[in-house]
Amino acid sequence: MKQDKDHDNATAEESLLETTEPVRVVDARPARPQTIGVLTSGGDAPGMNAAIRAVTRTALNHGLRVLGVRRGYHGLWRGDILELNSRSVSEKLQRGGTFLMTARSATYNTPEGVRKAYEMCLIFGIDALVVIGGDGSFRGARDISRLGIPVVGIPATIDNDISSTDYTIGYDTAMNTAMSAIDKLRDTATSHERCSVIELMGRRAGYLALNVGMATGAEVILIPEIEVDFAQDVIKRLLDCRNAGKHHYIVVVAEGAGSAVEIAERIETVTGIEARPTILGHIQRGGSPTMRDREMASRMGVFAVDVLLRGERNKLISYQKGGLVAIDLEEGLEMKKTISLEEYRDAKVIAL
Ligand code: F6P
Repeated sequence: MKQDKDHDNATAEESLLETTEPVRVVDARPARPQTIGVLTSGGDAPGMNAAIRAVTRTALNHGLRVLGVRRGYHGLWRGDILELNSRSVSEKLQRGGTFLMTARSATYNTPEGVRKAYEMCLIFGIDALVVIGGDGSFRGARDISRLGIPVVGIPATIDNDISSTDYTIGYDTAMNTAMSAIDKLRDTATSHERCSVIELMGRRAGYLALNVGMATGAEVILIPEIEVDFAQDVIKRLLDCRNAGKHHYIVVVAEGAGSAVEIAERIETVTGIEARPTILGHIQRGGSPTMRDREMASRMGVFAVDVLLRGERNKLISYQKGGLVAIDLEEGLEMKKTISLEEYRDAKVIAL
């Protein structure tokens, strides 16, 4: 008997996956979800585990069922899904990375992939999805929401480049990791009277580099948002610093603004100051989350479930002016965020 039932289920699932038409009416999802799925997507960020924990326990405490989707959207369309209980998220709060794992899914980035993921939600009975990740992950959330799966996005990326929020989970930890690394590089740059050129992550954004540059007293900060004249803003600037009595120099470059290797070569060739490049790379993505990231991730996780329990759909959790708000997903994706020119100028002034 059991075998027949399983067989029937398998057949139903196959037919769902093979059909070319929508398999269920979009508005069939209940206003208050009974089963939520949670996934992490895109680049990992310290604090993602804390967010999963908060989502899971808040939902369980409200009587919801929680399904953890492994490997982001890639796992969603493949049905890589397991039930989470309160113990599943024990001992995760202080850990870096994401225990649900993450991926950048080429298949999901196609209409067929989104459709398969949508159908997997129906098969597993997922009434709403909590997506923890960056901008790309939110666009993925928008795509599946348009097929009728309610979503809530929690911002998590070390880049802090999500326009709809002032803060993203993982940013503080990454900044502190980069700051400690640069403090160490400063020790050796001081001993050798060198210029240390450090390339930080940030994709097309310079938030990480700007804040870390200020916190480490960098003489030069290069970020994609601000165009510079290399001769004046890098070479002349370093020579001014030398002529003012400095013997070592820190140049922080966001990966979107140039290559540390090339910049160090140019500096050494033109000024004669020995320069050494360091690419901090993925070390910035790891490590135990700081207090700030644990706290923000926990608050955002609780808030995301509260939003769903209120019957709201397709929202992005946003940190604004010290508090959390839920903003419309589609509107959030259209927002623009600008870097602080004032901070850039101030960092320059106090470095000399
Ligand atoms: O978005 C986070 C980030 O670490 C960026 O700063 C960086 O450009 C990118 O991810 C690297 O991605 P991957 O780990 O896939 O190489």
